[in-house]
Parts: sequence; structure tokens; C-alpha cells
Amino acid sequence: MNHGDTEDTEEKRKARAARRITRLRVLCASVVKLSLLLVAFAIPPARAAEPVKIGVLLPFSGPFADFGRQIGNGMALYLKQHGDVVAGRKIELVRRDSEGAKPDLAKRLAQELITRDKVDFLAGFGLTPEALAVAPLATEAKTPMVIMNAATSVITSKSPYIVRFSFTLSQIVSPLGDWAAKNGIKRVYVAVADYAPGYEAEAAFAKSFTAGGGTIVGSVHIPINTLEFAAYVQHIKDVAPQGVFLFVPSGEQPIAFMKSFVALGLVRQGVKLLGGTEIIDETVIDTLGDQALGVISAQNYSVAHLSTENKKFLADWAAAFGPKPEPNFMAVAGYDGMHAIAEVIENLDGRIDPDRAMAEFKKIGFLSARGPIAIDPETRDLVESVYIRKVARVGGALVNQEIFEFPRVGPDGRAE
Ligand code: PHB
Repeated sequence: MNHGDTEDTEEKRKARAARRITRLRVLCASVVKLSLLLVAFAIPPARAAEPVKIGVLLPFSGPFADFGRQIGNGMALYLKQHGDVVAGRKIELVRRDSEGAKPDLAKRLAQELITRDKVDFLAGFGLTPEALAVAPLATEAKTPMVIMNAATSVITSKSPYIVRFSFTLSQIVSPLGDWAAKNGIKRVYVAVADYAPGYEAEAAFAKSFTAGGGTIVGSVHIPINTLEFAAYVQHIKDVAPQGVFLFVPSGEQPIAFMKSFVALGLVRQGVKLLGGTEIIDETVIDTLGDQALGVISAQNYSVAHLSTENKKFLADWAAAFGPKPEPNFMAVAGYDGMHAIAEVIENLDGRIDPDRAMAEFKKIGFLSARGPIAIDPETRDLVESVYIRKVARVGGALVNQEIFEFPRVGPDGRAE
């Protein structure tokens, strides 16, 4: 080892040490940059504090305004009970009035909610035409769309971003046809609204009712904006069926139909009125009074449902909005739909990605005020109980008393 070698090694050592320090500095700077990048792209601090926006599209005015009140209150009640912050993010409901069966308006409002308000979810949808008009926008923008009433089966197949927390018409009406045929009703006249849900209700009822040995003795399609039912009811009286299967959207129409049905003496003649809950839901029953006694309907929810969950739901509803009007099947769908959205946000830790959100929706299942519900991952529709109910006076009040339960009914109306 000579002197020159030693000096050379000393210099090399110094150079090596300097290089190490530089490398360390570069490494530290990279780690800092990487952390900043991770923070910026994965969990942006500003974003984390931003609200999760839910665009709520419902009829809040016009003949279907009650849909907006019931579903809107159902959503609001869930947030009131559980708080409006989920996974550190505030939930903001951006409400828009779709005014009823106006597909062009629904489409325009949904477009604005997506592009201008930048909503993370779309929710609501009272009527089938609104939901069908908005489905392509949900696909294009990849915005999860949570249906809280519109009930034509085909809706969920129109976009992979749709999930439904209400029911399908086949799901409710098939069990009713089956039950009617098995309970001594053999000759039925069918009167349905002249749009997609009406046609589905007619086909589903006829299929299960005739399979059980019943006969359809006549049918009519009724425009969804008429309140003049006397001519339809007179014709039904002339045909003299044993029962009438009726589907018209909940609200003003069932009340107007029932008035003619009573006034023209069909109740006195003993003609049985059968339908989905629309003909006699909680908003209709009190208006009709005793004329409603004996009406048979099928649905996934009744105020009279006996369970701890429903007792709490009704008590909290009354505390929030007063006891009347009572919540109907739409209120429960709004409440459960909001519950599901909150669970999805929680499971995603507040970071909303549409495809991951849809994967989470497919796993949803819980005990609702209506009974157990679970999303069928294939159709993104619910599997739930369907109850046959009869209007009765219980403790002085008119209620839809549950008289039979079809458990775990799938969206096609068959038991799973
Ligand atoms: C619908 O348009 O899909 C609809 C409306 C009211 C109902 C049920 C379904 O009660």
C-alpha cells in the first residue's frame, strides 16, 4: 500500500460519502414528493372535506307531488336519525322537481345535475317514464342511479349503473293473481293505466291468475291523467265480474276510481277490488273511509306491519313530520334507498368510484321496516316479502291488515 494509494482512497471515501448524502437528499425529496402525490391523487384533502352530492329527481308538484313528499321525507328521516356525515363527508341532497310523467324534463334536469352540480349519485324517480329517460345518462356519465319507486321491470336492464329499492310490478302482482285464484275469485276484469307499468301489471296478473284456474273476462287501458272513471266503471258493472284487478299510479286516480266504484254500486253488489298497494295506500285509505273496507291489495309494506323495525320507523316518522299523512311504500323505499347509499359511501371510505359503488350496492341486504330485503346482484333489484292485505278497522283506524305473506319474492314475481 503506497502513499499515493492512501490519498487516492481518502478522496474516494470523501466522494463516496458526498454521493451518499446527495442520494439520501434525492431519496428524501422523492419520498416527500411521492407522499404529496399520493395525498393529492388518492385522498385529496380538499375533496375529503367536500360533500357527497345526491341529485334527487322527484315530482314535488302536480298530480304526483305526493311521490316527492313521501320519498323525500323517507330520505330526510334516515339522515335525521343517523346524521348527515358519512365517512367524514357531508351528504348534500340537491332536489329537483320532475313534475310527474315528463321524460324530457327529467332528462334535462338529470343532465344539469350531472354536468353542472356534479352529483355523485342520482336518486328518486317516481314514474317509469322519468327513469327510462335518464338511464342512458347514468351509463354515459357512470353515475349510480338509485330508483326509489318507478317499477317497470325493464328499468334496471337499461343501465348497469341502476339499482332499485322499491319493487317491480311483476314482483307484487304475480303473487296477487296466484292468491286470488286460490281464494275463490275466478272471474276478473282488468283495468290498468295506459303506460308501461300498466301493461306489465296486466300481463303479470293474467299469467298467475289464469295459471291458478281464473278467467279474465275483459280489460281496459286508462289514460294516466284522467280523473273521469264513471264510464269505465259502468262498463265493468255491465260485464258483472266477480272481481276487478286495478293498477293506476298512487295518488288522485285510485281515489277517483273508488268513488265511481262505490257510487255505481259495485261494492254493494259484492264485486271485489284487487290491486297493487296503489289503489289503497296509506295516503288513499283515510280519504275513502269505510268505503275502503274489504279492498284486497298486495305490496311490500304496510303501516300495519308488525315488527320492531316498523314500530321505530313509525314513531320516528311521526316525531319528524307528524302522524298524518302516514308513510307509505314509497316513503320506505326512500328511507331504505338512502340507507343503502350511506352504507355504500361508508364502505368506500368516502371515496366515491362509480364502479366500486355499484359493486357495493350489489352486496346490500338488511332488515327494513317492510321486512328483510336484499339486492339480487344479477338484476340489481330487491328480493323481498310480498304481503296480501285487506282493509280492516283495527282499534278504530282503517289499516291494510296483512293476511298472507309470500316470503323472498324475486323481481320476476317468483319465490327465490
Ligand atoms: C311507475 O310509473 O313505475 C309507477 C308509478 C306509481 C306506482 C307504481 C309504479 O304506484
